[in-house]
Amino acid sequence: MTFGNRFFVSLFLGITISRFSRCNQVVLLDTTSVLGELGWKTYPINGWDAITEMDEHNRPIHTFQVCNVMEPNQNNWLRSNWISRQAAQKIYVELRFTLRDCNSIPWVSGTCKETFNLFYHEMDEAHSVKFKPSQYTKIDTIAADESFTQMDLGDRILKLNTEVREVGPMTKKGFYLAFQDIGACIALVSVRVYYKKCPFTLMNLASFPDTVPRVDSSSLVEVRGACIDHAEERDTPKLFCGADGDWLVPLGRCVCSIGYEEIDGSCVACRPGFYKAYAGIIKCSKCPPHSFSYGEGASICRCEKGFFRAEKDPSTMACTRPPSPPRNPMFNMNDTCLMLEWSPPSDTGGRRDLTYNVQCKRCGPGPNQCQLCEDELRFLPRPLGLTNATVTVTDFSSHANYTFEIESLNGVSDMSTFPRQVAIITVSTDQGGPSLVGAVKKDWASPNSIALSWQQPQETTLPITDYEVKYYEKEQEQLSYSSTHTRAPSVIVSGLKPATWYIFSVRTRTAGGFSSYSPKYEYQTTGDSSDMASDQGQVLVIVTAAVGGFTLLIILTLFLLITGRCQWYFKAKMTSEDKRRTDYQNGLVPFPGIKTYVDPDTYEDPTQAVHEFTKEIDPSRIRIERVIGAGEFGEVCSGRLRTPGKKEIAVAIKTLKGGYVERQRRDFLREASIMGQFDHPNIIRLEGVVTKSRPVMIVVEYMENGSLDSFLRQHDGHFTVIQLVGMLRGIGSGMKYLSDMGYVHRDLAARNILVNSNLVCKVSDFGLSRVLEDDPEAAYTTTGGKIPIRWTAPEAIAYRKFSSASDAWSYGIVMWEVMSYGERPYWEMSNQDVILSIEEGYRLPAPMGCPVALHQLMLHCWQKERNHRPKFVDIVSFLDKLIRNPSSLLPLVEDLQSLPESPAEDMDYPMFISVGDWLDSIKMSQYKSNFMAAGFNTLDSVARMSIEDVRRIGVELIGHQRRIISSIQTLQFQLLHEQEKGFHV
Ligand code: ADE
Repeated sequence: MTFGNRFFVSLFLGITISRFSRCNQVVLLDTTSVLGELGWKTYPINGWDAITEMDEHNRPIHTFQVCNVMEPNQNNWLRSNWISRQAAQKIYVELRFTLRDCNSIPWVSGTCKETFNLFYHEMDEAHSVKFKPSQYTKIDTIAADESFTQMDLGDRILKLNTEVREVGPMTKKGFYLAFQDIGACIALVSVRVYYKKCPFTLMNLASFPDTVPRVDSSSLVEVRGACIDHAEERDTPKLFCGADGDWLVPLGRCVCSIGYEEIDGSCVACRPGFYKAYAGIIKCSKCPPHSFSYGEGASICRCEKGFFRAEKDPSTMACTRPPSPPRNPMFNMNDTCLMLEWSPPSDTGGRRDLTYNVQCKRCGPGPNQCQLCEDELRFLPRPLGLTNATVTVTDFSSHANYTFEIESLNGVSDMSTFPRQVAIITVSTDQGGPSLVGAVKKDWASPNSIALSWQQPQETTLPITDYEVKYYEKEQEQLSYSSTHTRAPSVIVSGLKPATWYIFSVRTRTAGGFSSYSPKYEYQTTGDSSDMASDQGQVLVIVTAAVGGFTLLIILTLFLLITGRCQWYFKAKMTSEDKRRTDYQNGLVPFPGIKTYVDPDTYEDPTQAVHEFTKEIDPSRIRIERVIGAGEFGEVCSGRLRTPGKKEIAVAIKTLKGGYVERQRRDFLREASIMGQFDHPNIIRLEGVVTKSRPVMIVVEYMENGSLDSFLRQHDGHFTVIQLVGMLRGIGSGMKYLSDMGYVHRDLAARNILVNSNLVCKVSDFGLSRVLEDDPEAAYTTTGGKIPIRWTAPEAIAYRKFSSASDAWSYGIVMWEVMSYGERPYWEMSNQDVILSIEEGYRLPAPMGCPVALHQLMLHCWQKERNHRPKFVDIVSFLDKLIRNPSSLLPLVEDLQSLPESPAEDMDYPMFISVGDWLDSIKMSQYKSNFMAAGFNTLDSVARMSIEDVRRIGVELIGHQRRIISSIQTLQFQLLHEQEKGFHV
């Protein structure tokens, strides 16, 4: 007996078939959108029946029905047309159907079925030969599900089911689908066949083409983006195409080229009057003062007439001009010194590198009788490149007229073709001063003395008060000289070295001042004298040597102290052990009275642990909204959770991908069994699990700001020290709770801390505490374990001794990550080097701006002896004290190391390397062209750069800015040190 088709005809009246497709699905067949006949084949002829109904929009609903429930041995086939596969590797078949419950049909037991079978057959083209079921491969047996739209038909309940099956990999050009009925009462309402693709998209100024995902749902297709017009690659832009046609994990990006800025996802040329000198995520800037750009897309603004840019001026700086001349030159003269002074120019030309040159001319009575006279005079400190508006002149002659021309200069003076303007001052030294003495003769010489005499000047208007005899060792080339005064025209100069040539010169003094010096005379002392003198000499040598040696020792010690401090890491000061340690404090025995953690692995049946520690959630209460990440087991999504009688809350949902094996399901749910045992404001809260339907899910509270490491990197420098300490306090408190429960985390790191919208930090990632498989930082040790080396205590690396004390070590590293806004611990050092340096006693230095108290706590956490490390209870109470007394956070580590000891990171740079070599040495080679383009092409100029300069030349990544700045501090220190050495010579 056949149940007539009329039964179904009435059934579909009133059903609305939703016809939709998502942009990441390419539909190969949709029976709901075929307007004409479908033309599918049925075998035998009296099996499946094709019925076409019209929906409310007058579009056909093609249905196929069969209901031979009374007759045994049914074998009815329905075959689709040939469907082209296109680019699909894996296809999805979505079936909508109703299936009548056999219980609702009387007298059918034994013959009535409640399933049908879905088959496919791959072919390169459509064929018209006879249908052979044996060629078809079975996809699945399809049964009605329960959780679907219900239609109440009087006393009968019928459900519209939707089932989706995946088929692949497909290899031929197309395929047929076939439906086998073996005695059920079915109405096939729609068949939709599609494949998934990640659709063309633009992201980070790069375009990514339509991409078909891999058949293997666990691997992603890496797609490299192409930069859009006027953009260039910064870090290779990439996206990963996931199995579900979603783009995941954007990496790298393009940035707008020079002369272009990013507006609404494209690169637009800078307007006239604006420029952009570097490729990067910066906007076009207005031309600096006294410069202009006429056209669009300018990379630099040109200087107005009469204004210039010095070679080292960055393009961001205003154009400048030479200064006006100095004002109000004045002099002040006494017997020996002529002091020239002037006021700075009224216009510095817009620059700060103002200097002065003083030129001397000695003029005779007639016109044009001037000669340059710098060589005759001594200028203190020097005649050229003066930075103060004053110079002292000595050794001038009496009876002379000197003209001094004082010029102001700046960094662009050489570029201007305008004649230079100077301030002029004329000084007459003719004040009735005395004349020169006659020849100076040697009367006698001994090893330590020389007696000299000379003729008095012929004419003197004023009486001679005395003579000045100036002398110095010939070898020393007048680096310093001594002088002695005598009233008589003779002198015995004593205290000289034996057998040494000396230069002598004499001048007279009257009430009118000094005469010029006499010409220079060279005389020698005689050879060595008595033994005693020689002994004294030796004693002197020894004493001098001893004093010199001691001084050298002090200088060396100071130098070593300074440079020792400047090592990028330094030996931590180890304090003595605090002996109040108990087993509890060692993380071995939980605190009495506190609930203890139960390891789910101790359950014979781990599902039992899931039941015990977690709540099962009905999936209808969960609304998934977005994919926010990809985990080891599947995607992580955000969404909402409804709980009857409570406010809907935001949640994160970790999913377990289809196709898992039992071990993966167990490992996945292990995290929930652990998390479900915790209840603390600084531990991520488990809302529940979905285990009774697919996909299996873990639902936890949603943390708006994601993981702490990337959050800090995105907000470099944005928080007060108190805010950072507040975050650390939260993490410490969560860890105290865990250690009180007897739980050892083993992978405490900023990447495993989540941050909510109130900056509350919560410890997460518990599933991995035993295996660490999912942590990209975890590396295999020689003993075969997988460990995040940079975060792990030495005893845990060496012999897997994990404890709350090893968690305390990791906590110290988290402190360092927080205070350095997400810098990578030990930077680019290899894991092996990290292990060796730690073993040698070196520890991470304080990050920039880190209070001393916090670095001390870090060092405390990094004590080699694990029992010496602070317990989490100590850590939390220490941080509480700091928060209550914020002035304790004021002393910064750099304050204690004020220059020249300050550089934070201290690789030893050989001096005089090029800027390129220096950038190579700090692994920042990619910025060479930025430095060169901005004129920073000597280490000297680099050493003067500020953080603003570094940003302005196009270094955008905060981590890179920090690395460059901290290396520049080292350079500054070295240059200072070089200068000091030069100064002492
Ligand atoms: N990523 C992983 N877990 C998360 C959570 N709970 N909230 C936000 N982002 C997450």
